[in-house]
Amino acid sequence: MSEESEKNRTFWKNEEKKLDEQIKLAMWPGGAKAVERLAEQGKRPVRELINQLIDPDTLFFELSTIAGFGVEYPGIKDVPGGGLVTGLGKIQGNWTMIIANDSRVKAGTYFPITLKKHMRAQAISERCGINTVYIADSGGAYLPMQAEIFPDDQQFGSMFYNMARMSAMGLKQITLSTGGNTAGGAYMVFMACQSVMIDKLAYSFLGGPPLVQMATGEVISAEDLGGADVHTRISGGADHYSLNQSEAVEHVREILGLEPPQKLHIHRYAEASPRVPDGSIYETLPATIHQAINMHSILATIADDSLFSEYKSNYAPGRGDNIITGKIRIKGLPIGVIASNSVGIIFVEAARKATEWIVRCCQEKIPLLFIQCSPGYMVGSESEHMGIGKYGANMVRAVSCAQVPRIQLVLGPDNGAANYGMCGRAYRPHFLFDTMRGRTSVMSGRSAAGVLLSIEERKRRANGNLMSEEEKQEFRDKMIEKYDGEAHPFYCGARLLNDRVLKFSEIRDWLAMAFEVSLLKPIGEPAFGNFRF
Ligand code: COA
Repeated sequence: MSEESEKNRTFWKNEEKKLDEQIKLAMWPGGAKAVERLAEQGKRPVRELINQLIDPDTLFFELSTIAGFGVEYPGIKDVPGGGLVTGLGKIQGNWTMIIANDSRVKAGTYFPITLKKHMRAQAISERCGINTVYIADSGGAYLPMQAEIFPDDQQFGSMFYNMARMSAMGLKQITLSTGGNTAGGAYMVFMACQSVMIDKLAYSFLGGPPLVQMATGEVISAEDLGGADVHTRISGGADHYSLNQSEAVEHVREILGLEPPQKLHIHRYAEASPRVPDGSIYETLPATIHQAINMHSILATIADDSLFSEYKSNYAPGRGDNIITGKIRIKGLPIGVIASNSVGIIFVEAARKATEWIVRCCQEKIPLLFIQCSPGYMVGSESEHMGIGKYGANMVRAVSCAQVPRIQLVLGPDNGAANYGMCGRAYRPHFLFDTMRGRTSVMSGRSAAGVLLSIEERKRRANGNLMSEEEKQEFRDKMIEKYDGEAHPFYCGARLLNDRVLKFSEIRDWLAMAFEVSLLKPIGEPAFGNFRF
């Protein structure tokens, strides 16, 4: 192994250790004490329930585990995991979305980030046409922040609006209630296609005992007001009664066992492993984020047989090949690739080639993978006169209208309009994965510091107040720190700007899963708006 490769490997392994630590913090809020408290209530940590719910010997693909860190709500710095576990697993052979409250985080109440995570998971279910299981155990709205979580679209009410519409589309919504479901939260039980409640653990009511006493004078226990027995035997608001969590999970599996099997809407070829040694991507990716990369060697670590059938490989060398296009297969699934290469700056030729390739893949109805490592489109008079604006816009249009499943993987950097053209979050890719090398911001810290400094200097000059060299340096350092901090995968992951920060070693498995889930719905016909030529 060369010295450079060794250096890269050590660097990225260390970076991914930091990711492991962050994930561990999200998975064990409150530590052993919180687990003991659950046990006293007759409950297991929610991920244990999920493991029992999915098919034996299969993986749970957990989304956005590091959501909620550093969100800085009034009096609360972190909401580990957003207080919610979401992800995809196979139940009775079918991919299913699981959305589960983690009652160790402020009784599983809903903060703005919890809602965002809940909505994102429901959006994936709806778009991919898969069923959803809710494991409900929540104190409902986080009351001190009601104004930010209650009334708006994409806030509390939207959870139930989504349940209703998805059910109308034929997608099953199953709720396993294993804790409090109060006020609005009660609809999690009552809106489900079928719901399972657990004796003496699950409660569901529009107003809890204290509110009932205040409003009507009636004194009643939670169990008698809206426990499992009440709702399965008297009100009919829930459908299945279980004695404990294990029995309830098996009940949900039984219900979903009667669902028809899912089908893939693409031909799947035989799977083949990459031909390069496992983990070689750690050596290939430079530790410096703005250093040029060799995308061919990265694709070799992801593709079946390490085979990349490149489209227009000879076109405009040094400019056209800052994006490479072509086909690969991942675990037998055919995929069209649009991937940054070298320093990743997008020239006119690269933008035109990428647009052409997106349109071709849409015609062929094969899904698209965008691998984003671009600091932006080329600037300057030569590029402007050649039409970088209109060709960049064509690329954005093609990305926006492409009717095939689209997935973005950020290997970094990820700046400016290249974020748009390479299918960033605003372009609603079916899934968006970041890595520890990703840096997502409007421009790099260094560029932003330069631009902002020139504005600041102009302002000060107008007031007759010139900046000293030290002041300039201090200003620059502060801006670089701010921009680089906000571009970091932890910052973006905490705010759900991606669906997960992947380790390099996880990329192939996660892409295979995500494309498979995205291909469960038939692909429609291509339609693009008005390109400029
Ligand atoms: N808003 C804000 N904080 C809440 C909350 C809410 N709706 N529900 C619970 N919490 C907080 C508690 O204050 C406590 O905070 P702390 O750890 O800083 O002391 C933490 O979450 C754990 O709550 P606790 O009551 O100790 O948990 P529990 O497991 O004993 O009981 C509930 C869980 C959900 C049954 C109970 O907390 C409850 O009834 N909450 C209110 C439910 C409600 O009326 N919601 C209406 C919202 S629409």
